[in-house]
Amino acid sequence: MKDFLSLADLSPDQLRGLLDLAAGLRSSGTASDRPQPLAGRTLAMLFAKPSLRTRVSFEVGMRRLGGDALYLSPAEIGLGSRESAADIARVLSRYADVIMARVFAHADIEELARFASVPVINGLSDHNHPCQGLADLLTIRDAYGDLTGRRLAYVGDGNNVAHSLLHGGALAGMHVTIVHPENHAPSAAVMHTAEGFASASGGSVHATTSLDGVDGVDVVYTDVWASMGQEDEAAARKARFAPYRVDEALVARAGADAIVLHCLPAHRGDEITDAVIDGLRSRVFDQAENRMHAQMALLAWLAGGMPLPA
Ligand code: CP
Ligand code: NVA
Repeated sequence: MKDFLSLADLSPDQLRGLLDLAAGLRSSGTASDRPQPLAGRTLAMLFAKPSLRTRVSFEVGMRRLGGDALYLSPAEIGLGSRESAADIARVLSRYADVIMARVFAHADIEELARFASVPVINGLSDHNHPCQGLADLLTIRDAYGDLTGRRLAYVGDGNNVAHSLLHGGALAGMHVTIVHPENHAPSAAVMHTAEGFASASGGSVHATTSLDGVDGVDVVYTDVWASMGQEDEAAARKARFAPYRVDEALVARAGADAIVLHCLPAHRGDEITDAVIDGLRSRVFDQAENRMHAQMALLAWLAGGMPLPA
């Protein structure tokens, strides 16, 4: 496997291996105990959208593995306007050993991967957010010890984050329900792919407009109502999404030990209340930290030659 563009590209064994490698790197303690598979290597980080977690977790993770990272801002690159994705990929491959990119159109990350001779990692596109999905599964596994059979309700927009949860959850044998307002369902193609994974893993995937989808689940997950690039729709979406706010009453419908996740950044008071995100069930900051561990595993595997644990 050269690139990491979607969790749907992984086999169930590769997914489990990445989570195991991430947990292993996380417990490797101090810098002197940690393997340095990226020593002398450089990660080029290309951003067409803003970021806090993705930028910092990749940069720090790369350094922890012995490598170096450089940040390229939206203004500098002009992906598709100043220069084509194909040319950017060809040029960066001459300087860097691995590329991570955050783009609008998913076709842009596919084009970068097609023309780069080095591994390309998807740091979020309009279609999916596989690094986030990896960290999410690691966080759920940390809470419950296992993913198989766990029930997750994602409440909100059927967006990039929802798509990666569908792919990853179904691969891992989870039961994933997307609870969404009318006209904000996840992509039919993603549902179809995830259904295929679920039928092989013993999991299941559903999409519904009914909040009953939260009843008894192990994980309640939400994300912003308007994603980056949808700012014009934010006001209109507020009214439509308000019944889907994750507040204490909604979380009370989940299982007694349920945890709450959010990929962040959060719009507190919109999709999630302060009481929930700051409450005892919330694992959102562990989840944010796990971005770094999950991505260190990805970098070590794709660009550092480290094998995945069997
Ligand atoms: N969750 C996430 O990807 O955060 P950033 O947009 O800050 O990178
Ligand atoms: N769905 C959000 C996720 C941000 C990490 C967005 O695309 O803006």
